[in-house]
Amino acid sequence: MKRQNVFDPDCPNASRMYDHLLGGSDNHAPDRVAAEELLKVAPDAADIAVRNRAFLKRAVKYLAEHGVRQFLDIGSGLPTRENVHQMAQAAAPGARVVYVDNDPIVFAHLQAILSDGNTVATSGDMRATEQILADPRLNEVISLDGPVGVILTSVLHFVPDTDGPHDIVARLMRAMPRGSYLVLSHGKHAGSAGEADEARILEIYNRTNKPLYPRGESQIIQFFDGLEIIQPGVVPVQDWRPNGDGPVGRTPVRAPGEGPGAVLGGVAVKIH
Ligand SMILES: C[S@@+](CC[C@H](N)C(=O)[O-])C[C@H]1O[C@@H](n2cnc3c(N)ncnc32)[C@H](O)[C@@H]1O
Repeated sequence: MKRQNVFDPDCPNASRMYDHLLGGSDNHAPDRVAAEELLKVAPDAADIAVRNRAFLKRAVKYLAEHGVRQFLDIGSGLPTRENVHQMAQAAAPGARVVYVDNDPIVFAHLQAILSDGNTVATSGDMRATEQILADPRLNEVISLDGPVGVILTSVLHFVPDTDGPHDIVARLMRAMPRGSYLVLSHGKHAGSAGEADEARILEIYNRTNKPLYPRGESQIIQFFDGLEIIQPGVVPVQDWRPNGDGPVGRTPVRAPGEGPGAVLGGVAVKIH
């Protein structure tokens, strides 16, 4: 197992693999080789990444339509065609966005694209929740006195149980005022029929800078504990309030929401 703490061009990088799956160009040969290997095991992996982004866009729009003007996107990933600040500002001009990622490459790329005072990128690890929230750059852009849309899409499956992922989310949401929202998506366990493929996927990610920890449906739903889950609940991302901008790409090779690589997503509001 190889870990990338500093720039290592030979080690596949999970953020850049995702960028390749999304059709981006901020990736290198080892990232593309690993992503292509992934596509051999899970041919719908690229479609799943696209569906996850489409879910994120619908969720951000939903939050903006419900009065949210501040967004905290943790594990934001490399900039892509449409980013959270563009999604949010399209629906609510002037919306403020803080991006956080623990990959220095992501931080550098984000900084390069941000030019307005309403959006900031910071380098931080979600496991150090208190440090993220105390960051002066965050507090210059968003105020924890008003509702915040906390975005944790396709990131918690990079956090092992030993690092307490549920506790991380609970700590984050405890720090948010009433009226704040949680937008979360997470890779789901394949189930017995997909066990062999899932083992191969985990093996591929074990060779990257970020091993993968898919979870069962009930463990994913548990991330929303203490919050009121918005309809239709925690569902395959493409089924969350689809509005016609849903899955694009090749014909699905298996029922959506099934098989290795399926991603569940949901949105919840803090009312107490
Ligand atoms: C698959 S990308 C998801 C990007 C985006 N959130 C989305 O849904 O399209 C996962 C990102 O989470 C970041 N990440 C993983 N573990 C993290 C952690 N503990 N703290 C902050 N970011 C993390 C990775 O560096 C990567 O950029």
